[in-house]
Amino acid sequence: MNGNVLIVDDERLMRVSLENQLKKDGYNVKSTKTPIEGLKLIEEEDFDVVIADLKLPEMDGIQFLKEVKKQSQGMVVIIMTAYGTLESAVTAMKEGAYDFIAKPFSTEELIIKIQRALKYKDTAAEVLRLRKEVQGQYGYDNIIGKSGSMLKILETVDTISDRDTTVLIRGESGTGKELIAGAIHYNSNRREGPFIKLSCATLNREMLESELFGHEKGAFTGAVKMRRGRFELADGGSIFLDDVDDIPLEMQVKLLRVLQEKEFERVGGEETLSVNVRVICATKKNLKQLVEERRFREDLYYRLNVITIDLPPMRTRKGDIPLLVNYFLKKHALHQGAPIPDVSQEALDVLISHDWPGNVRELENVIEHALAFSTQAGITLESLPRYLKKHETFANVFTPDLSNATRINLEETIDEVETKLIQWAYEKSNGNQVRMAEMLSIPRTTLRNKMTKLHMPT
Ligand SMILES: Nc1ncnc2c1ncn2[C@@H]1O[C@H](COP(=O)(O)OP(=O)(O)OP(=O)(O)O)[C@@H](O)[C@H]1O
Ligand SMILES: [Mg+2]
Repeated sequence: MNGNVLIVDDERLMRVSLENQLKKDGYNVKSTKTPIEGLKLIEEEDFDVVIADLKLPEMDGIQFLKEVKKQSQGMVVIIMTAYGTLESAVTAMKEGAYDFIAKPFSTEELIIKIQRALKYKDTAAEVLRLRKEVQGQYGYDNIIGKSGSMLKILETVDTISDRDTTVLIRGESGTGKELIAGAIHYNSNRREGPFIKLSCATLNREMLESELFGHEKGAFTGAVKMRRGRFELADGGSIFLDDVDDIPLEMQVKLLRVLQEKEFERVGGEETLSVNVRVICATKKNLKQLVEERRFREDLYYRLNVITIDLPPMRTRKGDIPLLVNYFLKKHALHQGAPIPDVSQEALDVLISHDWPGNVRELENVIEHALAFSTQAGITLESLPRYLKKHETFANVFTPDLSNATRINLEETIDEVETKLIQWAYEKSNGNQVRMAEMLSIPRTTLRNKMTKLHMPT
């Protein structure tokens, strides 16, 4: 394993003899007496190892080392030190030298160090290559989810990223539509190109048209300058049209044309522009139904609906909640430089049983809140926002309709309610009596007594 070696030493005898011996051993060697020239050589040629003396004219070895690292972070540098200057050797190592060798040394000693450095370099390159490969394949580190539906989505993203087809992403608010759109773009061969986003929701027709396609100077009052639209800006990359259902009917024709012909004109412009853009859309609504209600063009619908990704609401993939809790805790704790707190079982239970109408976004907000209110004990029930802890008021569920009743049997009614509540706890805990007692806030013996009294199996 022979490589390219650069020697920087102002002592001529040392330099020349090292060079000759290393050459004899089959290395490609260059040498110089000045660090300035050394830096120039490094710029011109790809060296595997640089061997530099600690004492050099113009700048000392440490300074030289810093410059080398600035130029090429991964460069392997071995520093030669004079006998008895261990301290500077330590400094050199701290500054990123790979190794040091104390003078006087034999060529064999140096060659062993060079060999080791070369081997290290190869391994480092291999690790880097493998890491890149893994990232390329599964580079979805920030998309959390092990549920079947999420895995399927990631698989779809993987297969379709490199195809230029339009993608329609459907899902409730906060389910990760934008996240997935980004994953598609950054996993595609357009990743070096722009990723341009636009929400079609809040814009009126004129503004939306000008945002999408740009306008010429003087196209309308206020158009004092020519302005490029998002489609132009996205050329060579992808455009993400959020809330695509909100595009007014008259504008839908224009969008259809871009999708089909990849052509459009700026507002007020004559020139037809053509772009190479991949379109990713998102909607929270049921487009099919909008088509039926004639609020969305059918032809556009079919054009957008080539590949559809349906993001599941959080409540249908509760198994992912602990993963997401962990992920957001890490994310926000690290951000604040705080340690990652434990989450009590009770708190986790509440998080799992909540319905999450705001989906992943709501969960993330709750975790941020909980982190702010966590204590020495970590995240407990007390750390959670109030609204989560508000259990169903059972009074509502079990209030009998008494409007037409003239008399009831109190004992029996209470027994009935009690049975229902115990059954609820039984089902939720899979019959685990310790958990049931906790859930019902009664001692376990009381629970057993009640179950016996109500003729429930214990
Ligand atoms: N599977 C996931 N893993 C990790 N973070 C997620 C996941 N899904 C969503 N998020 C995070 O939740 C937040 C909301 O996601 P995003 O903005 O993509 O949702 P959305 O569907 O576009 O919502 P909206 O319809 O309201 O625009 C973001 O911070 C996003 O990073
Ligand atoms: Mg969004």
